[in-house]
Amino acid sequence: MARAGARLGLRWQAGVRSAARVESCRRNGFGQEPLSPISLSGVNFLQHPRAYRAALCTELTKPLVVRDVPSSSLQSHEVRVRVRYCGVNFADILACQGLYQDKHSLPFTPGMEFSGDVLETGVEVSSVKEGERVIGVAHTKALAEEYVADQKLLWKIPHGVPYEEAAVLPVSYGTAILALEHRAHTQPGETVLVTAAAGATGLATVDVASSVLKAKVIAAAGSDRKCNLALQKGASQSVNYSRAGLREELKKLTAYKGVDVAIDTIGGDIFKEALHSLAWEGRIVVVGFAGGTIPSIPANLLLLKNISALGLYWGRYRDQDFPVFSSALSSALRYCQEGRIQPHVGAVFKLEEVNEAFAHVTQRKSTGKVIISVS
Ligand SMILES: NC(=O)c1ccc[n+]([C@@H]2O[C@H](COP(=O)([O-])OP(=O)(O)OC[C@H]3O[C@@H](n4cnc5c(N)ncnc54)[C@H](OP(=O)(O)O)[C@@H]3O)[C@@H](O)[C@H]2O)c1
Repeated sequence: MARAGARLGLRWQAGVRSAARVESCRRNGFGQEPLSPISLSGVNFLQHPRAYRAALCTELTKPLVVRDVPSSSLQSHEVRVRVRYCGVNFADILACQGLYQDKHSLPFTPGMEFSGDVLETGVEVSSVKEGERVIGVAHTKALAEEYVADQKLLWKIPHGVPYEEAAVLPVSYGTAILALEHRAHTQPGETVLVTAAAGATGLATVDVASSVLKAKVIAAAGSDRKCNLALQKGASQSVNYSRAGLREELKKLTAYKGVDVAIDTIGGDIFKEALHSLAWEGRIVVVGFAGGTIPSIPANLLLLKNISALGLYWGRYRDQDFPVFSSALSSALRYCQEGRIQPHVGAVFKLEEVNEAFAHVTQRKSTGKVIISVS
């Protein structure tokens, strides 16, 4: 991280200058000093009584910048949240490269999940109160000190669950629960293969499959260090696919039976090897393409072993089937409070270090979830 920091030094200095500028805005928010006009990519905002820092993608594929942006006023059903931690997701990085399925107009603030405190509520808000600890989900905009949420997309953090762990739950654990329970109908005692098993989604999947569903987990990851972490988190066996062929190793580990369920976030050849390694009536869930290649599925394979290939797009459940979406998040919160799952925060970066945080994930250095400490 230090070397990356040196390489990106100029950018961080700009972040520091920006942070200093925001400080004066904050004081102004409490009525002490006048504000300067704020400019985002040439768009000038009029003076506003409040402002907060946000990470902005002003140009696709370019580093994000941290700037002060004006607060917006609340609608009756909305809640203003002071964000404490924001989870970093592969989808945020892809969105800032223009490679994600959802496109955003520039400039935009990425960030799909957060934990924080309720600052203010609209007149019709009944689900949360000022000062309560919450997690929330967003399409974008959560990588900022402040987020204005629809009350429907906030969940209270149970007593005893720290903000850091809570910030990990929406995307990674929501995805793991929907993939394993809702899509694959994983049963106790079944064998579950998890690829990129030490990653954010992967480790959450290992955790839920082993600790909650009592499945036998085979963790597949790109280094011994990552395999060991997945083993510590509940996997029974592991394959380092940078050293050994996944398909051959799975034959040995399952005595040629294959795995009942495979949850894949990598795509490409790893997906194909996982598909070929399914047992009779096995299910593979397509979750992501972190390796950059979208594989094709030969239909005859599905027929020959009576296997199923399923897709999972976590965020789509929010719009298409909210009860399922919300129930996965409530389950994650409950499992966490009961101590049945243990979210793993692999690294915490400051808001000004958002580009380092993104690089940490894309360079395959991360384990578990990377989160940004915002305020
Ligand atoms: N469908 C959904 O709703 C949903 C939800 C969450 C995430 N996802 C997708 O799942 C994938 C993983 O997301 P995540 O946030 O959990 O990330 P992550 O797993 O924490 O990080 C990606 C991991 O993928 C592996 N990988 C293999 N080839 C890679 C490459 N060429 N570049 C980078 N990483 C590579 C690396 O693990 P190894 O070194 O062990 O190979 C790396 O650590 C992404 O494609 C994401 O978009 C989808």
